[in-house]
Amino acid sequence: MFDLKAYLKEKQQTVNAALTKLWDSSEPYPTPLVQAMRYSLEAGGKRLRPILCIAASEAVGNSKADVMPAACALELIHTYSLIHDDLPAMDDDDLRRGKPTCHKAFNEATAILAGDALQTAAFEVLADAGRHHQGDTFKWLEVTYLIARAAGFSGMVQGQMMDISSEGKGITLEELERLHRLKTGALIEASVQAGAILGGGNLQELIALSTYGRDIGLAFQVADDILNIEGKPEMLGKPVGSDRDHQKATTPSLMGLEQAKARAGELIDSALEELRVFGKKGEPLAAIARYVLERTR
Ligand code: IPE
Ligand code: IPE
Ligand code: MG
Ligand code: MG
Repeated sequence: MFDLKAYLKEKQQTVNAALTKLWDSSEPYPTPLVQAMRYSLEAGGKRLRPILCIAASEAVGNSKADVMPAACALELIHTYSLIHDDLPAMDDDDLRRGKPTCHKAFNEATAILAGDALQTAAFEVLADAGRHHQGDTFKWLEVTYLIARAAGFSGMVQGQMMDISSEGKGITLEELERLHRLKTGALIEASVQAGAILGGGNLQELIALSTYGRDIGLAFQVADDILNIEGKPEMLGKPVGSDRDHQKATTPSLMGLEQAKARAGELIDSALEELRVFGKKGEPLAAIARYVLERTR
């Protein structure tokens, strides 16, 4: 039996070590900027996106590929998105990763700037990887492009805009899925694609893994909305019930809780289908897909 818990723990440690290294050469400026960046980054996220990137590179067979710059960049972007998502002008949340949100621990201006700087740092890391992996520069360019697309106005930021704009309004299930695919799905899909490209996957593998990433990306947000109803704040490290308070459209609010769970289950089954061609090498990705549904945090 594949031991997902041990796998996640080992990869989390690898990712955390690589993230810590990023600060080694940073200058000690007399401002709280880097302190705020590190506060949110090191508060203890699951590191799901970096782990998906690593697992995808392993699934296509190249466990030696140096995917760590992409893995770090994905987590830097994700952490920036959480800091901004929690701001008073957005979801106005006080708790994240089990700690006061960045704007509570510092202040709003510092939280905005920490988010900005984390995002820029991601692209610094990606560009730097291109400079240092000569011969693979084109791959790094491709990965930089797909992460930028997934994070920006064609992806996550667009989804966040739709999320905020649809508060208190009735939207259709179709519109909601589109919103979820953008705000959460896009970066998760890009994480898997980045690993597949850097690992040297062929076209067929890339297509299968993209579909896998797309399915679990949407399922992840459906599960997040279910956890906002049924989860335990002490496990989640963030508040529950806030979607209802903000009159957010969510899969459970539109379909009901049981139907939402069924929809997430369907998406995970479809993701698992895509992994067949990978045989044993797809085991970590399969276990991660199941975990997306079963997680309590
Ligand atoms: C939370 O993401 C925000 C969503 C996109 C739903 P995660 O659940 O991956 O958060 P961390 O990184 O573990 O804190
Ligand atoms: C966050 O979505 C998605 C991002 C792109 C940051 P939510 O607002 O639904 O996530 P949580 O519940 O605050 O983590
Ligand atoms: Mg939000
Ligand atoms: Mg939120």
